[in-house]
Amino acid sequence: MQKTKRVAILFSGNGSNLEAVARKIDDKKFCDTHIKVEIAISNNQNAYGIKRCQDLDIKYRVIDHRDFKSRDEFEEVILNLLEESKIDLVVLAGFMRILTPSFVSKFKCVNIHPSLLPLFKGANALRESFDSPMKVAGVTVHKVSMELDSGEILSQKCIEKIEDESFEEFSARIHALEHELYYRTILRLLVD
Ligand code: GRF
Repeated sequence: MQKTKRVAILFSGNGSNLEAVARKIDDKKFCDTHIKVEIAISNNQNAYGIKRCQDLDIKYRVIDHRDFKSRDEFEEVILNLLEESKIDLVVLAGFMRILTPSFVSKFKCVNIHPSLLPLFKGANALRESFDSPMKVAGVTVHKVSMELDSGEILSQKCIEKIEDESFEEFSARIHALEHELYYRTILRLLVD
């Protein structure tokens, strides 16, 4: 029997992961599972990802955290939207707000991070990973937990550093790796 699994993507900026995931999984059937990117939500009305949603014909909403007095009130609006949309999985794709434990306990949430966790947590991961003496770098998909960049690791992929590579070239390779790993991991979670 065919099942439908509904995904929400939360983003704040460029949205390249949103686009990569949507192109690979939205409105597609995998075995008996039909996957739908039901809604994308941004807290930033200037996010370039909004243009990507329009081009990809993905329904989106902007919920600006600055319009709310507290994090709980901001999250409540998002939670209501996710509940209305009967979301099975929340995919964070460069979403720059920390989610409360209460939010995380209500929906299964995953995130992608541009380093080999547990190394280089936080917003400067790409730069720190580039600047480190390590010979390899990589990306991690993990469950979202109460603590920043610390949930169960679901998948990782690494690359070797190239001598004299610029930060821009390095970043581009890391992002390409993200775009390959994220949708595959999401499929693993949704399709049985
Ligand atoms: C990615 O590097 C991701 O790992 C991190 O935020 C960045 C988002 O990039 N969490 P984009 O908006 O998907 O292009």
